[in-house]
Amino acid sequence: MDERAAPAAVEACSLERTYRGVAGQPLRILKGLDLRVDPGEAVAIVGASGSGKSTLLHLLGALDRPTGGSVRIGGTDIAELDEQRAAALRNHRIGFVFQFHHLLSDFTAIENTMMPALIRGDDPGSARARATELLGQVGLADRCEHKPQELSGGEQQRVALARALVNRPLVVLADEPTGNLDAARSEEVQDVLFELRDRHRVALVVATHNHEMASRAERVLGLIGGVLEDV
Ligand SMILES: Nc1ncnc2c1ncn2[C@@H]1O[C@H](COP(=O)(O)OP(=O)(O)OP(=O)(O)O)[C@@H](O)[C@H]1O
Ligand SMILES: [Mg+2]
Repeated sequence: MDERAAPAAVEACSLERTYRGVAGQPLRILKGLDLRVDPGEAVAIVGASGSGKSTLLHLLGALDRPTGGSVRIGGTDIAELDEQRAAALRNHRIGFVFQFHHLLSDFTAIENTMMPALIRGDDPGSARARATELLGQVGLADRCEHKPQELSGGEQQRVALARALVNRPLVVLADEPTGNLDAARSEEVQDVLFELRDRHRVALVVATHNHEMASRAERVLGLIGGVLEDV
């Protein structure tokens, strides 16, 4: 039993993920990995390409199921959830940010930002108000009615950050969020990401090859040989 009263935002214990190779052979990617991230804490995951960073984020976000060990989000063991309840947990408690923004091209910045709140069943008025507030916080108050193709790459990614926060998640999982941006745009997105973390006291797990971004986190962990090590 953990002596700390509040549950971790996200916690992995003895986490394993083994894929099947094309010839059916086991590919052991995660080999009994442990991780605890508290509310408001930022952790960077670094490691070579293919080391399993995206695999780990998918498991932490209940997008994939472990082959061993457990994942808890806000104290809830995802193994206890059927797919419908796992989807609800993803929508309510987790914000995802990927390398590519995955905004819907037919919808404006504000509609994209509101979308997870509408899916959850919030009334459109409060979803719009929250989305407006968040787009202001990411510096896009004057771009609300733009569609993704009318925004720059950095602006698109800032809309994705606003969308990730709209349902007041416990944890934001960001997989190479600046991987597609030039240095100046990357720095802007990093600034906004960490400002949002501070303002909303959300836990942040960011997988990145970017050393500058990693150095902004309280802890930097290397995914090496299927487990996490302090680096
Ligand atoms: N669905 C899958 N089936 C089989 N193997 C997979 C599957 N998904 C990932 N892998 C393998 O698992 C390993 C880890 O992949 P992963 O995408 O997690 O690495 P990564 O650390 O995120 O790499 P990068 O830095 O390039 O994004 C790779 O060798 C990959 O080929
Ligand atoms: Mg990856």
